[in-house]
Amino acid sequence: MSTPLVVELLLGDAPKGSAVAYGVAIEKNNKPSVTPGLSAAMMTKRGFTAKPGQVLVVPGSQTRIYVGLGPVGSVTSDRLRSAAAVATRAALTESALVLDLFGTSKVDKRPGAQAIVEGALAVTYSYRNKPANDGRRLSTLCLEVGTSRALRDGARVGEAIARSTALVRDLVNTPPAQMTPSIFAEQAIDIAEQAGFSIEVWDEKRIADERLGGLMGVAQGGLEPPRLLRLEWHPQDGRPLRSLPSLAVVGKGITFDSGGLSLKPADGMMTMKCDMAGAATTLGLFSLLATLQPNVRVIGYCVLSENLPGERATKPGDVHRARNGKTFEILNTDAEGRLVLADGLSLAVEDKVDAIVDLATLTGAVIVALGKEITGLFANNRNLAAQMIDAAGRAGEPMWELPMHAPYRRHIDSDVADMKNIGLPGQAGSMVAALFLQEFVGTTPWAHLDIAGTAWADAPHEFGPRGGTGAALRTLVELVQHFAKPER
Ligand code: BES
Ligand code: MN
Ligand code: ZN
Repeated sequence: MSTPLVVELLLGDAPKGSAVAYGVAIEKNNKPSVTPGLSAAMMTKRGFTAKPGQVLVVPGSQTRIYVGLGPVGSVTSDRLRSAAAVATRAALTESALVLDLFGTSKVDKRPGAQAIVEGALAVTYSYRNKPANDGRRLSTLCLEVGTSRALRDGARVGEAIARSTALVRDLVNTPPAQMTPSIFAEQAIDIAEQAGFSIEVWDEKRIADERLGGLMGVAQGGLEPPRLLRLEWHPQDGRPLRSLPSLAVVGKGITFDSGGLSLKPADGMMTMKCDMAGAATTLGLFSLLATLQPNVRVIGYCVLSENLPGERATKPGDVHRARNGKTFEILNTDAEGRLVLADGLSLAVEDKVDAIVDLATLTGAVIVALGKEITGLFANNRNLAAQMIDAAGRAGEPMWELPMHAPYRRHIDSDVADMKNIGLPGQAGSMVAALFLQEFVGTTPWAHLDIAGTAWADAPHEFGPRGGTGAALRTLVELVQHFAKPER
């Protein structure tokens, strides 16, 4: 894999003069645990009580950074991830930082080390390593793992995930003229080569031959031709393919969403280069699979197009036919994500996988429902929904399941086609979008993640700058690592 982060991770001895960050928990006696160089007088003077997120920086020939972890019994790997982010942010102007964050906590070493490395590397991200004008020079992070296999393995997994997160962020943050469907496809080919998975690229001719009417209908409004990527990875340990559990991941890849003829207002368009985040996250997951070696066959679809109002653009009232034969009446060309996903989901069903997960910046309505920090989950299968929620919990990524109220299917009844592509104004927009998608998954267990709120940050946040976040990547990693075929 390419390394979109400049900071290197050392698992041995730290370079001389490195800054050191210590995690400080609150002990049973309500006092911060005894920590090298941290006196009671100093804590009193600086008001440091080891509350979660609190940080105390002591400059000197060797800078020491103390980060609060909260009560010792309450420390989790999520807490360590946050502590690592805070510590690393405080150390960006140092050249090297040692992360000594477990303190007296009893967090399991493997997930703890993984979370620490994820959090620390995430805050070192800047778009294409463009120097952020904040005097940062941090080039080395160090975790002294000694002889612990658990610490070493956890750190290496955390590093791989952080590098893929940076890849997803770079893909999302790239200006839309430099991230067209064909450029995305070219980059995916390079990544497939480096990371070790197979890839097939369908161009516009193949897309037409395969009758991907949803994707073609969206793409016809722009000059850039669409692309469909099919990715595949499976363990190569001699087991027959059919004996492996199998999962398909489908990502929405609108490289720019103007709304089409149902044009967005200027303000709503400014961040619409992010509308390929689902496809970027799908690619990010595949870049990790050979490293993670999960016990599952994974197939990925990235459905790539622009959504523009050119002369050939789909007009409200037009009817298109998706891959699975169902037709839709397009009454709002800005509800384009569901149209391209219709084809991606149809293809995934044909693969006869045990489950399908799709990722899409699908609806503004999910931001109304859940805000910018919680991913919306919809599913047609209780077991798969539970696996998703568990995975999100382990990953520390907030996710909430929303209902799929079947009677609302009538909101998309059409006079001229199997369904229309919008529901009633102001009524359950995210759910209606999910009910639309459900028409294309048949009886295959399926989960839909609406990442419209979480894939893009409007302001700097705990784990990175404004822009693409890489949301849901860690959840997918946890899902593939624990995936079990759901009962239908
Ligand atoms: N890509 C947008 C959804 C979106 C909105 C993503 C805000 C990120 C931030 C999607 O294609 C869209 O335009 N959805 C419409 C659907 C509507 C016309 C039924 C929306 O949410 O307004
Ligand atoms: Mn749209
Ligand atoms: Zn869109």
